[in-house]
Amino acid sequence: MSDVLEMREGGVLTLTFNRTAKRNALTAAMYSQLADALQAAAADDAVRVVVFQGQPEMFSSGNDVGEFLQRPPASEDAPVFRFLRALSALPQPALAAVCGPAVGIGTTLLLHCELVCCGDNALFSLPFVNLGLCPEAASSLLLPQRIGWAAAAEKLLLGEPFAADEALELGLVNRVLPPAEVNAYVQALAAKLAARPAASLRATKALMRAPQRALVAQVMHDEATEFERLLKGPAAKEAFTAFLAKRKPDFSNL
Ligand code: COA
Repeated sequence: MSDVLEMREGGVLTLTFNRTAKRNALTAAMYSQLADALQAAAADDAVRVVVFQGQPEMFSSGNDVGEFLQRPPASEDAPVFRFLRALSALPQPALAAVCGPAVGIGTTLLLHCELVCCGDNALFSLPFVNLGLCPEAASSLLLPQRIGWAAAAEKLLLGEPFAADEALELGLVNRVLPPAEVNAYVQALAAKLAARPAASLRATKALMRAPQRALVAQVMHDEATEFERLLKGPAAKEAFTAFLAKRKPDFSNL
């Protein structure tokens, strides 16, 4: 079965991360499929809403760490950046249903979603610094705007996980539910939105996002440049090697 499931029901396109053995870690092939699906959706008036989801115990463990080591994104044409551009340019409202860990891009992609509901087991983290990396997905711009400077600096610099109740308090999510109910709740929300006039949905999203569009693109570009540089560095290598060897990283000389 594919690592990303695509389901169309009415006007709702649902993209399900489905690589459970690796905790839904995202590979280049998955980003490519997601980017293609979003680009096709953007050009398809019949798609009124897009939903991202995982399973009741897992949203995504972020980028595949093995791929970061073996096949790091080498340019802005890399699938991960293509996916992020397609997501930030998506004209339809995007929704997310988040249960369990949402690591790295598993959290930053939420900043490009209009509505996010999560399970009370959700655990968000932005461990970029702890991996020798830096923020992506324009999160260095969008996170402080969304949750305030103090909280964003804490989340991005310390990279410690935070739970659903804190995410709700910070305004990162709209609602917290029992994990078994989240996907169904978001599907019902998506169906409700899909019944609204599509042109008004798109116009409302476009107007809400427009003032930032050029800035988001610029920040994504700047982040990608820095991210690619850091990916080749010794701290990132040590972090990824340690994760795969199931040991703690040693940054004492870095
Ligand atoms: N990339 C590649 N493989 C990953 C992965 C990732 N991001 N996250 C988990 N896996 C793999 C593990 O290596 C393990 O593989 P194995 O069974 O072949 O040993 C399997 O998925 C299960 O992972 P495990 O860590 O045992 O699961 P867990 O339920 O105890 O913990 C997480 C789940 C998400 C908290 C933990 O896996 C984790 O922190 N992942 C790394 C997150 C990360 O640093 N992502 C990069 C963000 S930029």
